[in-house]
Amino acid sequence: MAISHLFHLLLVLVIARSLAPTNANLEGDALYALRRAVKDPGHVLQSWDPTLVDPCTWFHVTCDSDNRVTRLDLGNAKLWGNLVPELGKLERLQYLELYMNNLVGPIPEELGHLKSLVSLDLFHNNLTGSIPSSLSGLSNLTFLRLNSNRLSGRIPRELSKLGNLKILDVSNNDLCGTFPTSGSFSKFSEESFKNNPRLEGPELIGFVRYDVGGGCN
Ligand SMILES: *[C@@H]1O[C@H](CO)[C@@H](O)[C@H](O)[C@H]1NC(C)=O
Ligand SMILES: *[C@@H]1O[C@H](CO)[C@@H](O)[C@H](O)[C@H]1NC(C)=O
Repeated sequence: MAISHLFHLLLVLVIARSLAPTNANLEGDALYALRRAVKDPGHVLQSWDPTLVDPCTWFHVTCDSDNRVTRLDLGNAKLWGNLVPELGKLERLQYLELYMNNLVGPIPEELGHLKSLVSLDLFHNNLTGSIPSSLSGLSNLTFLRLNSNRLSGRIPRELSKLGNLKILDVSNNDLCGTFPTSGSFSKFSEESFKNNPRLEGPELIGFVRYDVGGGCN
């Protein structure tokens, strides 16, 4: 009787283990949410098979030695549609390259969860809404290129806290108000901000509060 109980217990353990979620394809699911949200007339996402254990063999996806996604290279890929908040689940993502597509709608604030991000390249799309202030938490962010979209609103002042930022381009949008000149922003010239007809110029420190006025409402 003891032996049959033991056997029973083992059987229960084996079944429980096989039913437990493995988390193996959490990142694949996040990427697949993007695939579902966009039109892909060039079939660049055709290899994205959600039944595989991880997305590391998918084209345009790069993983590290732990099979975690570190790069998404989909520049100039003829994608049409929306970015998805699920992208914020790619904890080890360093390069998010989605420039020169026809992406529309907002930049999900969840991209502020991508703590490893080094490069956020969303230039030359049709993105709208404002630049999420959540991006200011991305301490390793070095390249932030959002130029040539239809982004509006103020440039979040918190972005000047991005200590590793080397390249910033928000030109050719519909941003308004003034732009920060302190912190990492002290090294950027007006080139980074040009062709935003409603953007007034650098902030005047100590003169007016950053978030008032400026024809931005
Ligand atoms: C943005 O949308 C306009 C029309 O809505 C279109 O003419 C233009 O080509 C689009 N830009 C990009 C980069 O897709
Ligand atoms: C930021 O970069 C440094 C140096 O490459 C690295 O050691 C660190 O893990 C990175 N931080 C995150 C959150 O990825």
